[in-house]
Amino acid sequence: MNAPVTIKIGEKSIDLPVKAGSVGPDVLDIGKLYAEAGVFTFDPGFTSTASTESKITYIDGDAGVLLYRGYPIEQLAEHGDFLETCYLLLNGDLPSAAQKADFDYRVTRHTMVHEQMARFFQGFRRDAHPMAVMVASVGALSAFYNDSTDVHDPHQRMVASMRMIAKIPTIAAMAYKYNVGQPFVYPKNDLDYASNFLRMCFAVPCEDYKVNPVLARALDRIFILHADHEQNASTSTVRLAGSSGANPFACIAAGIACLWGPAHGGANEAALKMLSEIGTPDRIPAFIAKAKDKNDPFRLMGFGHRVYKNYDPRAKIMQRTLQEVLSELGVKDDPLFDVALELERIALSDPYFVEKKLYPNVDFYSGIILKAMGFPTTMFTVLFAVARTVGWIAQWREMIEDPGQRIGRPRQLYTGAPRRDYVPLGKR
Ligand code: SDX
Repeated sequence: MNAPVTIKIGEKSIDLPVKAGSVGPDVLDIGKLYAEAGVFTFDPGFTSTASTESKITYIDGDAGVLLYRGYPIEQLAEHGDFLETCYLLLNGDLPSAAQKADFDYRVTRHTMVHEQMARFFQGFRRDAHPMAVMVASVGALSAFYNDSTDVHDPHQRMVASMRMIAKIPTIAAMAYKYNVGQPFVYPKNDLDYASNFLRMCFAVPCEDYKVNPVLARALDRIFILHADHEQNASTSTVRLAGSSGANPFACIAAGIACLWGPAHGGANEAALKMLSEIGTPDRIPAFIAKAKDKNDPFRLMGFGHRVYKNYDPRAKIMQRTLQEVLSELGVKDDPLFDVALELERIALSDPYFVEKKLYPNVDFYSGIILKAMGFPTTMFTVLFAVARTVGWIAQWREMIEDPGQRIGRPRQLYTGAPRRDYVPLGKR
């Protein structure tokens, strides 16, 4: 513990404890501030606020570093697979060979959903956005699996966690199949996680489906890149929902709802739409001008980040993966990729973006890869949700298992009307 910081409010001096982490900025513990000084801190976008202590993921935004339980994302993406990353995020260490085999076996054998779930989808219009289907279906899981909703039972927490990680790709594939009017495809236990997902999305009953191992490996890596990311908006939503004791399925549904926003997980869909709208490199300057125009709400989607003030390490890996996928698919020059590369080149040399430290983020290239793989833009954020489910679960469990856990209940700066008396209708 570092020396406390003393702040003076009016005539009162208050010592605020300073806590140091293993890496990263120290924090000022302001828990007693209101009781002792009658004031709140004010930080609406949480730009300077740590909402919790965590041991799961660490980001150094200035250096462009991302660590899952201390391991650099570049090494995990290069040498590991997604289920190994899931084990790491949930348990804190890389699995032994036996632990990995057991974890893979248990996840693989929980990938089917209750058959009644299939009827649940019939209530949607075929053109419903798959994210709407995901929010509803995942929220409904607590109605099917109410034997794993007691958040205070460690066994039920483990069962719910495994069910979520195992079933989220199946539900996502069902949302896609329903959207395109094709029959649902059941998971196959002899396929790895990413291969199973590709098959459940793209196989049809009329012919055998052969998984392309290069695409499966690329998708598995994309899942690793999206697995967790500290206290981002959707993770904070899951933690806040979980702090009330809500069941894990409801908490994950809340996270999916938050992720959908274009400023967050919806940016991959928005970025691809933007690149398609730009169309050709000669139209880039007009869009850069719009992004810089204070009076224009337009932003370069897939650019900028609250934490990264350097290149998002995930975007670098995504760009390399995109080149692998395009080469595997025999795509010599993808016009969207050409526009993206040129947009990045121009933006990174433009003083506006340099001064504001705006770099491509994880969403800038992902849409081009997913489109090349055959996914429609409406499925991009769904895939983000599939990958982020393990991060939400790991963070939710860390919160629930914290002995000091309390319901999250922020205060406010009230600027509305002071007390006033009711005026009868006849006197208004
Ligand atoms: C994700 O939090 C996470 O970790 C999220 C995520 C994860 O893994 O969970 O990394 C996933 O959500 C990535 C981000 C995806 N979103 C986008 O790509 C949408 C476009 N980006 C912006 O909306 C924005 O950059 C945010 C939302 C990502 C960050 O917003 P901040 O931190 O609140 O930054 P800001 O809006 O205060 O912007 C700071 C300045 C502003 O200018 P000034 O008011 O200071 O003059 O930079 C400008 C902004 O206008 N700016 C941009 C811009 N992003 C910020 N200008 C043009 N284009 C952009 N993309």
